[in-house]
Amino acid sequence: MRVVQTVQALREALRPFDSPAFVPTMGNLHAGHLALMQQASQHGDVRVASIFVNRLQFAPNEDFDAYPRTFEPDCAALETAGCDIVFAPKEADLYPQPQTYMVHPPAALADMLEGQYRPGFFIGVSTVVMKLFQCVFQGAKASGTAFFGEKDFQQQLIIRALVQQFEMPIAIQTMATVRDTDGLALSSRNNYLSAAERKEATRLHQCLQTMAGALRAAELTPQAIEEQAMRDLKHHGWRPDYMAVRRRDDLQRPDVGDRALVLLGAAKLGQTRLIDNIPIDL
Ligand code: PAJ
Repeated sequence: MRVVQTVQALREALRPFDSPAFVPTMGNLHAGHLALMQQASQHGDVRVASIFVNRLQFAPNEDFDAYPRTFEPDCAALETAGCDIVFAPKEADLYPQPQTYMVHPPAALADMLEGQYRPGFFIGVSTVVMKLFQCVFQGAKASGTAFFGEKDFQQQLIIRALVQQFEMPIAIQTMATVRDTDGLALSSRNNYLSAAERKEATRLHQCLQTMAGALRAAELTPQAIEEQAMRDLKHHGWRPDYMAVRRRDDLQRPDVGDRALVLLGAAKLGQTRLIDNIPIDL
């Protein structure tokens, strides 16, 4: 496995290959990231991962500086998972000039849920992903594949639309959320939880499952189900941003008869903001 730091070194390393399989990350890798890498290792003729904590997607009050950086163990884990090239640019390598052109995803997809509580987040994500795709796939002779986690449901939907609207010859594959044995979705931000918070943290997933049960029972409206979940979390000391019942293909509120849904939640426990979701078919 090779580790490259500059865009030029990445392009040189990729020149002999036709069809990259790519996993973008911000590092601090866990089994969720590695599942994406293992899936990628079944595709294309070269496997690339990026490790880059993207300042553009952090608001000034967010955890950019505190975000865990664990480069050496990340590289060891990527190699075991079948990675050929790690692209790990420094900020000045990826943004030699300030990034003044930005990718603005449409409000209908990006201004609600995560976008409502993290304004500008999906502009930062879309811009860096567009840029990383240019770095990895630009010289590819065949179409490539990029891998995203369902854990960040809205993100993978926005990236799918980005690739489609800009005619980028890249297939997007979305992989199911990898969870701890007690149901907590793996996340780099779980590192911030105290022992007591870590125990409590499973409630987010449990609440989503309760919402799924209530939807299947069809006794309450989606809105009543959302309100009940918000109350439950607040009652246990959480500060929920949203607990939402949405249509899976466009994240709009479901109409009667819509069957492909996703339940999404975001809530703060102490200082840590956790997100999770579960797709359901009625
Ligand atoms: P990061 O949070 O490091 O996640 C990298 C990829 O791993 C994303 O596609 C994310 O959805 C996936 N992932 C995270 N936790 C997962 C889990 N428990 N199960 C399955 N997949 C999981 O998402 C980002 O980085 C950034 O926004 C990025 C796309 C790299 C742009 O900066």
